[in-house]
Amino acid sequence: MSSEKTLRELADENGVTIGAGIPARSFRQYPDDPTLAQTLKREFNAVTTANALKMGPLRPARKVYDFDDADAIVNFGVKNGMTVRGHTLLWHKQTPEWFLAWDYTDDQLETFVRDHIHTVAGRYHDKVDVWDVVNEAVADDGSMRETVWYEAMGEAYLDKAFEWANDVAPNAALYYNDYEIASDNDKADAVYDLLERLLDRGVPIDGVGIQMHSLPSYQHSREDPEAVGANIRRFKDLGLDVQVTEMDVAYGPDEEFDDRLDHQAQYYRDVLEACLDNGCNTLITWGVHDAGSWLQNRYEVTADPLLFDENFNPKPAYYAIRDLLESRS
Ligand code: XIL
Repeated sequence: MSSEKTLRELADENGVTIGAGIPARSFRQYPDDPTLAQTLKREFNAVTTANALKMGPLRPARKVYDFDDADAIVNFGVKNGMTVRGHTLLWHKQTPEWFLAWDYTDDQLETFVRDHIHTVAGRYHDKVDVWDVVNEAVADDGSMRETVWYEAMGEAYLDKAFEWANDVAPNAALYYNDYEIASDNDKADAVYDLLERLLDRGVPIDGVGIQMHSLPSYQHSREDPEAVGANIRRFKDLGLDVQVTEMDVAYGPDEEFDDRLDHQAQYYRDVLEACLDNGCNTLITWGVHDAGSWLQNRYEVTADPLLFDENFNPKPAYYAIRDLLESRS
């Protein structure tokens, strides 16, 4: 007989972290639409700020920080005893309009990034448990992505970003986060090499986040769970913790499955199992319910990639990971 325990209860019993990335608009609607908050705190023991801490939403003008949305999500997590993941201190996307127009020198940019990280990671030093310090620094072909940070500081921008985060948030776990690094493809190899160089240089990095957006539009999608497990293991063997940080499972218009939701459920279960069997104890989904997914109207994929449907009813994927945790209790 199926358990009546919630996903969160089973996660807690197993020492596993199951989380969701939450866009701020969901919290602005609250308490008009409390369903999201109720589902989140009942079923998950971790929450990620999906957009609120990105530089663009956070800094509407050069000298103005708007922490309202980030505070709402972070404080919700703290109040409800959840692990709080801060996403993200440095990324090449979702930067502010005014920043794109700013004609800075390399030194000015470095000072700017340092102040940004000190301000943001410092504000939440006793609230954010895990930071995605740098997001997506490696390009799809495995070369270093030529971001503005890279152009101004070279690869050392990662060293600096982690050190600046560590200055003000010494108790937080500091992560590098990226997509399409779930198996042993060229990009994953390049990220592995990059992280090895950081560790050799004594950079204070604790872990690697595997985003795990499982989308047919990506080159490497719905990777074989065994390969995912082996890849997690090699990052662990490097001395890093590993988390699955942004999972969703979507299908293309030409992928005809009668039992698509069962296939999706099995994939969630297999990935969580690969994770747990290889020393990764965290799986975060990129949203709670399908209607709140970033994949609505994007990439021409099925817009039902998450654990709960549009009415917050649990889907087969929810039961699949809940049953897996129950079988391991
Ligand atoms: C996405 C958000 O979910 C969207 O709301 C936003 O419009 C674009 O960014 N990798 C990441 C996340 O690290 O920050 C991205 O989030 C999804 C891909």
